[in-house]
Amino acid sequence: MRVGMETHPFAAAPTGGPGLESLPVEPLLTSEFDGDPGSVYERLRSTYGPVAPVGLMGVPAWLVLDYREVLEVLRNESVWRRDVRHWRARAEGRLPQDWPLLAGYEVRQTMFFDDEEHRHARLSYHSAMRPFQDGHSPEGWELRAAVAHYADELIAMLAAESGTTGFADLAAQYTRPLLLMVTTKLFGCPVELGDEMVMDLWRMLDGGPDAGPATGRALGAMTRLAAHRRSRPGEDLTSYMLLADPSLSDEQLGRELFMNAVYLNDITGNMVCNTLLEVLRGNATVRRSLSNGQLGETVNRAALANPPTANLCFRFAARDVRLGNFLIRAGDIVSPSVAAAHQDLLKIGSSHLVDSAVSTRAHLAWGAGPHQCPSAARELAGTIVTTAVGRIFEHFGRAELTLPPDQLPWRSGPVVRGLKLLPVRYELAGHSSVRGVGERWVDGAGASAASAEAGVAGVEPGVRQEESSGLLGLLRRMMSGRRRSG
Ligand code: HEM
Repeated sequence: MRVGMETHPFAAAPTGGPGLESLPVEPLLTSEFDGDPGSVYERLRSTYGPVAPVGLMGVPAWLVLDYREVLEVLRNESVWRRDVRHWRARAEGRLPQDWPLLAGYEVRQTMFFDDEEHRHARLSYHSAMRPFQDGHSPEGWELRAAVAHYADELIAMLAAESGTTGFADLAAQYTRPLLLMVTTKLFGCPVELGDEMVMDLWRMLDGGPDAGPATGRALGAMTRLAAHRRSRPGEDLTSYMLLADPSLSDEQLGRELFMNAVYLNDITGNMVCNTLLEVLRGNATVRRSLSNGQLGETVNRAALANPPTANLCFRFAARDVRLGNFLIRAGDIVSPSVAAAHQDLLKIGSSHLVDSAVSTRAHLAWGAGPHQCPSAARELAGTIVTTAVGRIFEHFGRAELTLPPDQLPWRSGPVVRGLKLLPVRYELAGHSSVRGVGERWVDGAGASAASAEAGVAGVEPGVRQEESSGLLGLLRRMMSGRRRSG
């Protein structure tokens, strides 16, 4: 596939001076970066200053490292554009064939809109998400109750499989299924999303060899969901998006849901795991804030130490502009690094920031400026994260990592830094209500009773599916339980 062949009015011609393409760049994604991105950011900063030229899978890009410059890029939308058509190298057909990071950027949705189109899309989001924003509406209340219930059920599963003391992978056995269940509920989907969809989102974000087909598969699933909800509206985000903007086609709504699915599964999951990790590894301030009952503050501290989206979406310069020590030329690609900006912020604020209980809110994990995470999404995601983390420490009397923190395996790509595994040894608290509850999931009695009573819950007539094993089967059984008790 040859990409970006159109000559485009979006990509302005640059003026003179040495361009990004003529600078020597070092590849960003190395094994050193996988193991310790912080030291790579530090070295780039000391070599180049607040902005550094790097190679991203063979393509040169500007990595923005310092807090002040990252904020400038996030806030100033008239210079830093989102639409990929502003990218000169793409417009001139100079990208390598099948450059893996392009697949996601070619999916045109709110994140990659500018100006009026962007403002219009955000308004639709605001109205569609409002019912879920807090617990004061029936939808918001039900979703929050469901998150806590799913979390309890997953912990009960662990207890049933491994006993009141045992080993668990809190990424694979808890966080990932929890977020798939929440996605299913929020999007109003027949329970057909499985681990494979999450893996496809990973393949896209990490720019694996299969990124293009993986993006196509995930988009296809979301477009089918949009069509399904158009014909059978419910009290879910998909239906409310259609109410907010009836002109959305199935394809466009599918693209929006696809992006939300990335946030809800991958990014929210990273925030859950990173927060759990900060607590487990004994970050003293995080533990202190947790023991004070300030879970929101714990999340902020973890987000500062380890933001779930390490590097935000690319921006493209609308005109030649100075940033850091370089002249960025019109149509150049720029990647604002939240992880590097936090490193910079912690250095500036040092002990003051780490000890303070309020200033951690300066973190950029939700972005900043006109494209920042919409407030309703932020509140919802914040509740999901605090509930997911809170239920673990409610039920566990003790939990400790079974690997030294520096040996934990990370998924480290151009966008996301997230744990592949979060292996722990746990002991249930004496008071935990899940002691003994989980057996019904392993002996199968609960499952068959649930499906007999509720059908295959969550699956609408016409899209009913066969019972299946593995994660999908587990989710169905649990959600059947939810329907019965809810
Ligand atoms: C812990 C979880 C989450 C984090 C850390 C997060 C973070 C972010 C960040 C950093 C951005 C801006 C990206 C950029 O400027 O390049 C963003 C945008 C966005 N997020 Fe979230 N998000 C989370 C959860 C969610 C959820 C659950 C949803 C929806 C269900 C959502 C919907 C959106 C949307 C629609 C945008 C695009 C806004 C725009 O471009 O105007 N996010 N999010």
